[in-house]
Amino acid sequence: FRHLTLTDGDDGTLPRRRLIKISVIGAGNVGMAIAQTILTQDLADEIVLIDAVADKVRGEMLDLQHAAAFLPRVNIVSGTEVSLTRSSDLVIVTAGARQIPGETRLNLLQRNVSLFRKIVPAAAEASPESVLVIVSNPVDVLTYVAWKLSGFPASRVIGSGTNLDSSRFRFLLAEHLEVSAQDVQAYMVGEHGDSSVALWSSISVGGMPVLAHLQKNHRSAATAKKFDEAALEGIRRAVVGSAYEVIKLKGYTSWAIGYSVASIAWSLLRDQRRIHPVSVLAKGLVRGVPADRELFLSLPARLGRAGVLGVAAELVLTDEEERRLRISAETLWGYCHALGL
Ligand code: NAD
Ligand code: LAC
Repeated sequence: FRHLTLTDGDDGTLPRRRLIKISVIGAGNVGMAIAQTILTQDLADEIVLIDAVADKVRGEMLDLQHAAAFLPRVNIVSGTEVSLTRSSDLVIVTAGARQIPGETRLNLLQRNVSLFRKIVPAAAEASPESVLVIVSNPVDVLTYVAWKLSGFPASRVIGSGTNLDSSRFRFLLAEHLEVSAQDVQAYMVGEHGDSSVALWSSISVGGMPVLAHLQKNHRSAATAKKFDEAALEGIRRAVVGSAYEVIKLKGYTSWAIGYSVASIAWSLLRDQRRIHPVSVLAKGLVRGVPADRELFLSLPARLGRAGVLGVAAELVLTDEEERRLRISAETLWGYCHALGL
């Protein structure tokens, strides 16, 4: 490798592109699944892992560092101090209590709000230009809390929201129709949780609007049969029950949320302008909910380097979808409002 030997006055540095720094606060099941998925994407130059438990987070860091021979070069740092996240481009928050089997996400609220009071102001101060992505549950209410505590514009505070539920929805529809989930366009919106809303009216497969097709050929074709009401309701229930089932079986969910948040990170930092159903400030965006109500819930949003670039406010909804979305919004507003922030 003689030609690589440095000559006098040459320190080996070339003009470099701006480095991308991503911090993950909370190095538990979810934080580590996100960090490891991001590592495989060649998206970050530096990944910072923060956790309250010093040994655990150091162990996680070393374990990932030991994969260095199989991955692009990334500087992986860890510690207990939020100040290590300084000048991050993206700060992902997964710290906090998780559900025990059967427990709802909303049940975690008080415990995780206390934690957010410690974490969010420090993270916002360390990286005032960053985009915050909130994952801890209940994610919609905690995204609202993070928005209030950070003082960031709403465009730079995003909850992972129903990006995950929509993937579960697409998976189940794809299984039902025996196609790839990537060819199914379908959204869950509203709360990431029990009141999430399946947007049946806008599902398309390979560019074909499925329900319009169904109405035209009501029960006449084999495909129509596959979409009868009972099957649709069964799929919606399965989506809402997904996390409960996984938590009952393995104690927590991790891989799918890892991919979900990594896909959000990619769209943001690579300025992809992709549409993700994520939790955004929905003030004035849900028909029938007074415009002065501050709450976060998931709507299809266009994501780019600056955060949320736009929200699909004019969703075409059936009366039933609109009714369910209103219930979801009112539920979440009740929780946000009660916090008195
Ligand atoms: P976990 O218990 O494995 O990890 C939580 C981590 O947070 C722990 O390592 C803990 O030490 C750390 N922590 C606690 N206080 C901290 C502090 N002050 N600073 C830094 N770290 C701190 O739990 P998990 O399975 O990783 O779940 C984490 C959260 O993510 C839960 O609230 C869970 O409900 C939520 N979650 C959300 C989604 C979603 O779709 N939004 C999906 C899965 C899980
Ligand atoms: C999920 C978590 C528990 O996997 O919110 O849906």
